[in-house]
Amino acid sequence: MEAFAREHGAAPRWLVRSPGRVNLIGEHTDYSGGFVLPMAIDRSVWLALSPCAGRNVRVRSLDAAGGAITIPLDASPRKAPGWAAYVAGAAWALRERGLPLRVWSGAIASDVPIGAGLASSAALAVALVSAFAIASGLDLSATECALAAWSAETEATGVRCGVMDPLIASCGIPGHALLIDCRSLATEAVPIPSDCAILLLDTGARRKLAATEYNARRAQCERVSSLLGVAALRDVALDDLERFRDRLGPTLFRRARHVVSENARVLEAERRLRCGDVAALGGLVDESHASLRDDFEVSSAELDAMVRSVRAEASCYGARMMGAGFGGTVVALAAAGGARAMGERALLRYASESSLTPALYEVRPAAGAETIAVTSSAGD
Ligand code: GLA
Repeated sequence: MEAFAREHGAAPRWLVRSPGRVNLIGEHTDYSGGFVLPMAIDRSVWLALSPCAGRNVRVRSLDAAGGAITIPLDASPRKAPGWAAYVAGAAWALRERGLPLRVWSGAIASDVPIGAGLASSAALAVALVSAFAIASGLDLSATECALAAWSAETEATGVRCGVMDPLIASCGIPGHALLIDCRSLATEAVPIPSDCAILLLDTGARRKLAATEYNARRAQCERVSSLLGVAALRDVALDDLERFRDRLGPTLFRRARHVVSENARVLEAERRLRCGDVAALGGLVDESHASLRDDFEVSSAELDAMVRSVRAEASCYGARMMGAGFGGTVVALAAAGGARAMGERALLRYASESSLTPALYEVRPAAGAETIAVTSSAGD
């Protein structure tokens, strides 16, 4: 808001807040039409904006080097450099839906760590779609906003990511995780017990090869569904998979076993969470990590080391790598009292064996994206 006021000599008309996310369980299941159990967190991308004259959107990011970028409404996301591709992508996604757009001028700041697996880019995409929506007088539901942000990010990055991240950034509910059926997009709010702390332990290792490996894993899942004659791995049970073991070969079998078993773990996790059984939830979270490490092979030495370090603490219920993998952050569930001190001990243990600089965040389940009117226009 201050950066905006400095540059424009006036307060912004609107302020958009769009949160990052933690995924409690359900990793690499969304693009197979499966189940996930994420929550929006109390760290967000903030976008202050006002309508402006001319034909270009003008926006500055306080977190990126360089000045404001200027993007025409019909810019191609594939040609725009760096984070400008997200601005062009958001305009493109709404244009593709036949929606008329107006230009705006804004400033962005974020406290969602970038590249740590907390879906900072989905939060940015949802913020930008929300900005276009309010500036253009569009009435988008939270799900419509998420779907447009999803198209924007896919088009901007070329990564065939799933729908989980924009959906939770858009639809999050304070105090709750959301069970999302990524095929029907139905969501159910599941309360997080107040005695359960959620810690994020950033390994300090940034994701390498994530885009290529991500698309490769997705292609392997699609290959298995086509061999099994189903629409997606969501439609497969472990017994079906066993029958096809020889035909699939060891790698495809293990990839599919992760997805099928993870879907079952998500549904069990929802049941456990509803009973407040955080210890049982923790056990499922541990199993998820082992499956991502051994069957889906998207963990890394740093993620495994961080999981081991935090699991050495008696008050930790369970821990696992989170997001696409290959680096980034571990999510750990812990008893609320003394959770931060416990996380700090785990970080010290990890740091004593690594040259990287880890970081610790304690997060709370927060609301999805919102747009706040800051000032009113003369016409209101
Ligand atoms: C990334 C993608 C999501 C999801 C996760 C893995 O965060 O953006 O759609 O596939 O990886 O669960």
